[in-house]
Amino acid sequence: MEAAHVLVFPVPVQGHINAMLPFAAALLDAGAHVTFLHSDHNLRRVGRAASVASSPRLRFLSIPDGLPDDSRRSVGDLGELDRSLREVGSVRYRALFASLLSAGSPNRARADDEHRFPPLTCVVADGLMPWAIDIAEELGVPALAFRTSSACSFSAFMSAPGLFVLGDLPFPAGGDLDEPVRGVPGMESFLRRRDLPSSFRRRGDTDDVDPSLHVIAKASAHCGKARALVLNTAASLERSALAHIAPRMRDLFSVGPLHAMSPALAPSCSLWREDDGCLAWLDGQADRSVVYVSLGSFTVISREQFQEFLSGIAATGYPFLWVLRPDMVGASQDGVLHEAAMAAAGDGKARIVAWAPQRDVLRHRAVGCFLTHAGWNSTLEAVVEGVPMVCWPFFADQHINSRFVGAVWRNGLDMKDVCERGVVERTVREAMESDEIRRAAQALAQLVKRDVAAGGSSATELERLVGFIRELSA
Ligand code: UDX
Repeated sequence: MEAAHVLVFPVPVQGHINAMLPFAAALLDAGAHVTFLHSDHNLRRVGRAASVASSPRLRFLSIPDGLPDDSRRSVGDLGELDRSLREVGSVRYRALFASLLSAGSPNRARADDEHRFPPLTCVVADGLMPWAIDIAEELGVPALAFRTSSACSFSAFMSAPGLFVLGDLPFPAGGDLDEPVRGVPGMESFLRRRDLPSSFRRRGDTDDVDPSLHVIAKASAHCGKARALVLNTAASLERSALAHIAPRMRDLFSVGPLHAMSPALAPSCSLWREDDGCLAWLDGQADRSVVYVSLGSFTVISREQFQEFLSGIAATGYPFLWVLRPDMVGASQDGVLHEAAMAAAGDGKARIVAWAPQRDVLRHRAVGCFLTHAGWNSTLEAVVEGVPMVCWPFFADQHINSRFVGAVWRNGLDMKDVCERGVVERTVREAMESDEIRRAAQALAQLVKRDVAAGGSSATELERLVGFIRELSA
């Protein structure tokens, strides 16, 4: 694998970076050279320490995302980022190939390093950027697609054209969101309209779905043109969805949860500064007594929703650790929110941080449940640690992920579409206290740990994927 040089290119947002960085580490572990491509904006944000790779065979490069520095790309309009990457980023991406394809390019971040990279042999690009796959192939480099979301959501997007044909999309105006959905294979017995990814819903008062549904459905179909599709999931979680996706791809590799498998060769690339102090605070709390609250890197809630969450969690009486990004509560001062949270919880019973070392938090013995937006990374991280979940999905694949949590795996509860203090209190209490949910969460963790252990389905798939990339690189 020494001669293999793989370009790993996620959509430059936190959730996608977090999924693809452990994949880069797995390739390094197999002996490959890896160029990990950030946006200029993100590479500046992760800072000097994180931008110097931990291995001479790993380097971080960047291209512009085309947005002005003050654009709120972390919280807002993925559509805008998508457009700008396609129009501006793609030009620089194409230009980058000239140097990547020449032999002996140095690892620029390590000035003292004599190590030279071999010419680029393979690209693994985020499946939400079909142009990145097409440009690579056009320039003679074989390209694979990597999707950072769940197989069930991918399967739903693949099924969207069929749902239009069946007349199930757009949903009828004023129609019941609890109606079952036909047409997403293998999920007919539990999937309701409200569980489909958020873009399947009508957009405001219009007669159509959210336009991003068409974009993502098209990008999903395009993955079938790539040499293969890589998904960060495990057979024991999503066997049926994987079986339905496989025949529509040239090849399919389900290699997750990657963070639980790959060695820590790559540094973390947090776009926010992690507050490690919360781990010491957790050390002082009783076993399984703390509610951990985090709604990921994009979610923006209203002041009213914040108050409902806060009142509901505080009413349970459990101590809580809450990730409140500075840009998370619309048009509010985070200082005020901090005070409100402390007041509601009583002295010492709450800890508010702007960004937590989430994987370490979920691994901590003091955490009793995880109130989450059910982003796919967060879901996988909770599953691996066997932590019961309370899901309040916000957008994208989160609505379908949370249905799996509540109705399929039963390792947690799904509060979707409801944000009321009474419901928050009742649901958090149940997740903290139910033996049944805890047992299901622990049993699921065991299954997934078996998938990623040597000889397990994900570990075997990863070996097959490394062999596949080796052959493409020969
Ligand atoms: C989004 C989608 O929700 C997700 O489903 C998709 O696959 C990727 O893009 P995001 O909303 O940010 O991502 O959620 P999630 O997928 O859960 O990723 C958040 C990541 O940030 C996780 O890896 C989590 O560990 C990390 N995180 C979050 C921290 O490290 N610290 C925090 O305080 C909060």
